[in-house]
Amino acid sequence: MTDRDRQPEDTAAATGEPVVSKPYIMPDDPEPGSVELLQKEAAEARDRTLLLMSRLSDEDLHQQHDPLMSPIIWDVGHIAHFEELWLTQNLDGPIEFSEMPGMYNPFEHPRATRASLGLPSLSQMMSRLEEIRSRVLDRLETVEFDDRNTLLRDEYVYHMVLQHEYQHNETILQTLQLKTGGAYAAPRAVTLPRGRSLADRPPMVRFPGGVVVAGTDDRRVAYDNERPAHEVEVAPFWIDVAPVSNGDYLQFMRDGGYSRREWWSNAGWAWLREAGVEAPKHWSRDGDVWYVRAMDRVDRVDLAMPVCHVCFHEAAAFAHSVGKRLPTETEWEVAAGWHPTQRRMQRFPWGDAPPTPRHANLDQLGFGVAQLGAYERNWSPLGCYGMIGDVWEWTSSDFQPYPGYRTFPYAEYSEVFFGVDYKVLRGGSWATRPGAIRNSFRNWDYPIRRQIFSGFRCARDD
Ligand SMILES: [Fe+2]
Repeated sequence: MTDRDRQPEDTAAATGEPVVSKPYIMPDDPEPGSVELLQKEAAEARDRTLLLMSRLSDEDLHQQHDPLMSPIIWDVGHIAHFEELWLTQNLDGPIEFSEMPGMYNPFEHPRATRASLGLPSLSQMMSRLEEIRSRVLDRLETVEFDDRNTLLRDEYVYHMVLQHEYQHNETILQTLQLKTGGAYAAPRAVTLPRGRSLADRPPMVRFPGGVVVAGTDDRRVAYDNERPAHEVEVAPFWIDVAPVSNGDYLQFMRDGGYSRREWWSNAGWAWLREAGVEAPKHWSRDGDVWYVRAMDRVDRVDLAMPVCHVCFHEAAAFAHSVGKRLPTETEWEVAAGWHPTQRRMQRFPWGDAPPTPRHANLDQLGFGVAQLGAYERNWSPLGCYGMIGDVWEWTSSDFQPYPGYRTFPYAEYSEVFFGVDYKVLRGGSWATRPGAIRNSFRNWDYPIRRQIFSGFRCARDD
């Protein structure tokens, strides 16, 4: 029996039992907003960081595995110092620094230079993590969640720091996928459910157009760039029911996708000439057969899985080749969450309840994408599958502030990245922790990036 022959019921995660570290918040958890819950979530986030590091040597941790990525020990130190900055120093304001000064400041030290910083050894880092965490927990004992303090209202700053650790976990996984000196021995703890054919579904669904409310006013966990909720007039459009599969993408390759100039934008063609690629990142060919590597596992490309590790230009060229285009981020959000009769945006495709292991392929421990149709609850009101989990989805939108945007609490999260250089991605991937994704969440990256766990779906005009 291969891994994929098993059903979700067989897996520890699907039965709600703890896997390696508990992947999701459980019903017996302390009350929302309580100090006990924050303590528990902080411990759980750290367990995951340590789990991901647990099979790595000091050398693995200090190595620059790719010019795009930091040495993993830098990410770990940055996680700790960000926590120290926001949950001890800045907690009582005034906010002195938005990013920590020194070695772990991402703006002072570009990723490609971080290996030369004289980073601490693993054992020094472990002591540092513990020392900072114990001061954070001491401070948490006495914190007063004063509604007049916007950092503390609804425990905002604690959720921000938690999400920061979750997000760096995904960055660490990108690095691990690029690891040099032998593939990463992934601590797989979840067997991904098998897919179900979507052949009985139409390939695209239609949004009839109208005024929707995109973004959110949430101030408990949402980032500044997700706010405020705002009305947008959306023209009618069609969108793919499912993300583009490896099977679809192979067809594009066979149709000469990487050599048909007419399908590529000028920028995309320039990138392609320079990059010289002929397939998604981490694919390799043996004769006519394509293989894909996910950490330490190399499998034949599974036609029923969403394509992963393609850049924006590849996504846009594919869309062009089939007479479609990429959705705007508003169209994506409408497809993921707009409820036509309640006339409101749901927090997730299936409703407002947070994800569990039965809803979507999130939370890392399967270490790869699942076949399409594998999660029968992962359907949106409009009828789209898999908007959350598996792969981030490229959109055609530049990363811009929403009307009425206000920076909070620091400019270096969103504001300094707004502009035409970055494209927005939505929906999270298998490597995203559940606490760091929702329909309103906006990710962004350069249109040439392929180290991220990125795929796409297509749209078209009415
Ligand atoms: Fe960071």
